[in-house]
Amino acid sequence: MELTFYGHACFSVVIKGKTLLFDPFITGNELAKDIDIKKIKADYILISHGHEDHVLDVEVIAKQTGAKLVSNYEIINWFAAKGIKNGHPMNHGGQWKFDFGTVRYVNAVHTSSMPDGSYGGNPGGFVIESEEGNFYFAGDTALTMDMKLIPMSCIINFCVYPIGDNFTMGYKDAVIAADFVSCERVVGVHYDTFDYIEINKEKAKEEFERSGKELILPRIGETISL
Ligand code: NI
Ligand code: MN
Repeated sequence: MELTFYGHACFSVVIKGKTLLFDPFITGNELAKDIDIKKIKADYILISHGHEDHVLDVEVIAKQTGAKLVSNYEIINWFAAKGIKNGHPMNHGGQWKFDFGTVRYVNAVHTSSMPDGSYGGNPGGFVIESEEGNFYFAGDTALTMDMKLIPMSCIINFCVYPIGDNFTMGYKDAVIAADFVSCERVVGVHYDTFDYIEINKEKAKEEFERSGKELILPRIGETISL
């Protein structure tokens, strides 16, 4: 699978020729100013929770690509009211088979309100299973015991975890979270975008190496194979 990082917690993964875009927040991210959202492809936009740093560019990209939104019921309804009717509502613990593979919406320990203050349902993460591999995007979350449920239903080839601390788990907890899902490879996101989440990247990588794991930190705009 190819993963392209767009800064903060936004990335895309191509599976069976379909592009899944996660948590688009680009135009509000000074670090991602070289990314042109008009060029971003998406067949699906998966949204972990309602915070602005995860939904800011959903409306524009959904309207320009016609992508199907996948998120919790409340977020799908909020975008439907903005005229984006191509949505698939889910809730925690449920899974659905799409043309690229299966999506399960899983628990996250965080909050979720929409940019206008309205209710954004409960926050979540996604487990994606496909013929090309499986991965877990945790969204914004604390380290939580619920992560231990994930490897009971599938083998995770890589995780995408927040590592910036303060609003989510930090990189030390992310190492434990990787243990919880029996995974050695973690793509780190949700760091350095704001003062509150600045980290020492070398220290973070060392922390993973000490546990025999790999922390991958793609440059903004970079595409990697996983
Ligand atoms: Ni958040
Ligand atoms: Mn966030």
